[in-house]
Amino acid sequence: MKTSLLEICDLVHVYMPGTPFERRALDGVSLRVAPGEALGLAGASGSGKSTLAQHMNGLLRPTQGSVRVDGMEIPQRGGNLGRVRATVGLLFQFPEQQLFEETLELDVGFGPRNLGLSPVEVGERVAEALELVGLPVCRFGSRSPFALSGGERRRAALAGVLAMRPRCLVLDEPTAGLDPRGAAALLDLLTRLREERGMSLVVISHRMEDLARLVDRMVVLSQGRVAADAPVRDLLHRTDWLDRHSLEAPALSRLTARLAQEGLSLEPAPLTVSEAEEALRGPLSLG
Ligand SMILES: Nc1ncnc2c1ncn2[C@@H]1O[C@H](COP(=O)(O)OP(=O)(O)O)[C@@H](O)[C@H]1O
Ligand SMILES: [Mg+2]
Repeated sequence: MKTSLLEICDLVHVYMPGTPFERRALDGVSLRVAPGEALGLAGASGSGKSTLAQHMNGLLRPTQGSVRVDGMEIPQRGGNLGRVRATVGLLFQFPEQQLFEETLELDVGFGPRNLGLSPVEVGERVAEALELVGLPVCRFGSRSPFALSGGERRRAALAGVLAMRPRCLVLDEPTAGLDPRGAAALLDLLTRLREERGMSLVVISHRMEDLARLVDRMVVLSQGRVAADAPVRDLLHRTDWLDRHSLEAPALSRLTARLAQEGLSLEPAPLTVSEAEEALRGPLSLG
């Protein structure tokens, strides 16, 4: 069997066990991510998405069950997580709040410096990462993170993760709070990282449209359990089911469902505007 990059088995996470605030945030979650695969992670607020993301690079430790990263099991406590963290990079929600150095160059170099790399190697990684996110070091390197736009700050934070050269990126609500242009630029960047670098992605989002563009497969969490694990194309067209899980189906899926009620069924069910155009060509007798 092909090895998974990420393999999570019956994972349970209990916050503050044995206190009045005890909370079972994950309750037996299993999932796999193959090398180069893009997985979407959705679910109502409080369903456990951020908790699950933090298990993927060992920031949180399993209460029960197991998390393996490229075959390495994350221990319940202790252990050296260097290789795990080098393999899986985690971008927190609102990561720009954690930019703190005086210049972008220093900020993005923070992780590589901590790896004990030489100044030349740190410089190479910083330049590569800033280039990847569209903030070339020659123009942006000496700027303060605080002098950037919201979208640029978010991409600068991503550069800090990319400078560690991970094989898998886990992104917690990467487009939340960005304007449409900033969000589109980030989604394009993620698509390129996957296509050109073969990176695996785990993308948490409540914007189903974003997931439709980015991922192949989707896991929906509900109260700390996996409610669905299916190809994105199947799931995004189950409009009623998504509704029941507090997720809004993409506008195109809702339109497809309405048209089907009116007797016009589109095959295959479209996820993008150009797919919809193609599917409507016949029925509308477009040229
Ligand atoms: N640090 C924490 N301490 C205690 N409870 C927490 C903590 N973080 C999250 N929780 C609880 O765990 C559950 C899952 O939270 P979270 O993983 O943040 O969900 P999501 O990201 O899907 O909104 C929620 O009930 C939340 O209140
Ligand atoms: Mg969250």
